[in-house]
Amino acid sequence: MSAQPDSAKESFLVTGGVRLTGEIPVSGAKNSVLKLMAVALMAEGRTTLTNCPDISDVPAMADVLRHLGCTVEITGDTVVIDTPAQVGHVADDKAAQRLRASVCILGPLVARHRRAVLAMPGGDAIGSRPLDWHQNGLSLLGATTRMDHGRLVAEADELRGAHYKLKFPSVGATETFVTAAVLAKGTSVLENAAREPEIVDICELLSEMGAQISGAGTSTITVEGVDELRPVSHRVIGDRIVAATWAYGAAMTRGDVTVRGIDPMFLHVVLEYLHSVGADVETGPDHIRVRQDRRPTARNVRTLPFPGFPTDLQPMAIALAAVSDGLSVVTENLFESRFRFVEEMVRMGVDAETDGHHAKIRGRDRLDSATVWASDIRAGAGLVLAGMCADDVTEVCEIFHVDRGYPDFVQNVRSLGGVIERVPTYR
Ligand code: UD1
Repeated sequence: MSAQPDSAKESFLVTGGVRLTGEIPVSGAKNSVLKLMAVALMAEGRTTLTNCPDISDVPAMADVLRHLGCTVEITGDTVVIDTPAQVGHVADDKAAQRLRASVCILGPLVARHRRAVLAMPGGDAIGSRPLDWHQNGLSLLGATTRMDHGRLVAEADELRGAHYKLKFPSVGATETFVTAAVLAKGTSVLENAAREPEIVDICELLSEMGAQISGAGTSTITVEGVDELRPVSHRVIGDRIVAATWAYGAAMTRGDVTVRGIDPMFLHVVLEYLHSVGADVETGPDHIRVRQDRRPTARNVRTLPFPGFPTDLQPMAIALAAVSDGLSVVTENLFESRFRFVEEMVRMGVDAETDGHHAKIRGRDRLDSATVWASDIRAGAGLVLAGMCADDVTEVCEIFHVDRGYPDFVQNVRSLGGVIERVPTYR
């Protein structure tokens, strides 16, 4: 894998006015692979994951696991994690704080070792992202949790099956509860569980390893505890957010893009929305095709847990609204700080204002090129798409964010005919 280590000081130069056309494959989902890597902690021996994306969060997660005693090899799209009989339970502070997804070692460590110490994880600056529901779930299963000098400490003598109803279908809290419940004694039931495809992928891996789980992908997940798990090989599901980013690129540039390696059911609501703005949408068993031949029509969007419109595509929805005909209102229901990038879009002449969790965007036919800063992975990708609809060359700075979630970003944009360069940031 070859993610760029110096990308904090690099920028993308994006030339506007080019239609995106062609075919593009997507690799495995970031929000699946990082969790699957953590699940490997739960079984002694070699767990093999294939279809892994070449993104910088994968080696970052590998470092978290190595500090716990695992051997991790990354070769092409395959990650092999060899977990010893005894792993450590204290996550390395620096390694864990480099990525938000390090929180997903919490459930696996408590499940297998009854103890975990984890510095509060880092990741995107999109909101406060507390861990109270993770802690509540672990407490119900019999663990005690506390904060100690900025680290979350969880300990249990034994884990017993429990009934937990989440206030909101949190992806992370669902994963923590389910992974811990897999090695608890007795039956656990999680109500109002997250239904994201990545949750189903994690439950499939756990089931292949010997866990007894039913209801993954529905709001109620039931887990019968087992004594131990065995290591297996597993293929990571395709990345629906990356796939949809290229679909948005097609709709915004009046292009024609086919994305392969993605189950269209993961994007049902998103594709309906693209259809409603005027795109022709075609789907097959593992591909989507989006064509747009006229200016998109403005439509309102509100983000919701799956199967609703994903918050991770909210920047793409705003970028599309910025070039649509009419007024769009985009409502963000998950993360309170997720509109930070809107002021960057305003530098590009986007006519937008935010008020609490609403953004109002009045579309323009063409945007202005400008220098803008990415504040998180998806905001960075949204700014690049906006740059493709600007009059000249847009510079998107701090692209290390984009490298955390998009494999081979420049090569992929170019393969669709986009004009983009990665350059050192001179400022
Ligand atoms: C995951 C994804 C992220 C996606 C999000 C929602 C990963 C690595 N990240 O994040 O890309 O945007 O799902 O689809 O998979 N909450 C609490 N207390 C908790 C847990 C969550 O209040 O203990 C709140 C959060 O602040 C947020 C909401 O619940 O407002 C949803 O968060 P959650 O679904 O847990 O997101 P993540 O798992 O962090």
